[in-house]
Amino acid sequence: MHEKGQLENIRHWVKEKLINERTGHDWLHTSRVAALALYIGREEHANLFVTEAAALVHDVIDAKLSESERLTICEVTEQLAAFGIADGTVKEIADIITRMSFRHRGMLRERPLSLEGKTVQDADMLDAIGAVGIARAFTFAGAKGHPMYGSQASVLVHFEEKLFLLKDLMNTKTGIRLAEERHEFLLRFAAQFQKEIEVQER
Ligand code: ADP
Ligand code: NI
Repeated sequence: MHEKGQLENIRHWVKEKLINERTGHDWLHTSRVAALALYIGREEHANLFVTEAAALVHDVIDAKLSESERLTICEVTEQLAAFGIADGTVKEIADIITRMSFRHRGMLRERPLSLEGKTVQDADMLDAIGAVGIARAFTFAGAKGHPMYGSQASVLVHFEEKLFLLKDLMNTKTGIRLAEERHEFLLRFAAQFQKEIEVQER
């Protein structure tokens, strides 16, 4: 009951923070990641409170957020403590959200994420592939004024440089299983897209 109330508080706080975010770290992304992480966490026997709490706050410290939306890790841990979450649990959550991003993946070899961290990271990566991942990539490009293809900053190059790689970075058995269908869909979409633009270019 206590934990349920704390999660509800976190949910409201983050939703208010991210509701106007337009670059792919919006509230709907967070809310999908939290649901996916809960599903994976159940299958993998992770601690569901840490999993859901970390999923809910995973993007609020992202460097890509605008200054008005971005929080420091201290602000996040202070807020979690203010919601009555125990110090040790707050530390577990902080350890996850400061180390789970794609950019930091090299560092995880020395000290891997906790099971809950691996779960949230899988959920976050799953949301970057499949139909939703494709939609997010085009939304991101639209917000930045990047083209769909034909330049280094295009969506198709982003597919090659990041999205096609995510399937092989999945941590958990459940994540690996869920990534398969989404990865296949991404490949199919990219192949069809390529076919159509080749006709156009002739
Ligand atoms: P993460 O939350 O894993 O750190 P990012 O912040 O890199 O992910 O990206 C958030 C969303 O924006 C993802 O769906 C990602 O695919 C998309 N995105 C990031 N960079 C680009 C880009 N250069 N072109 C198109 N989409 C992008
Ligand atoms: Ni995310």
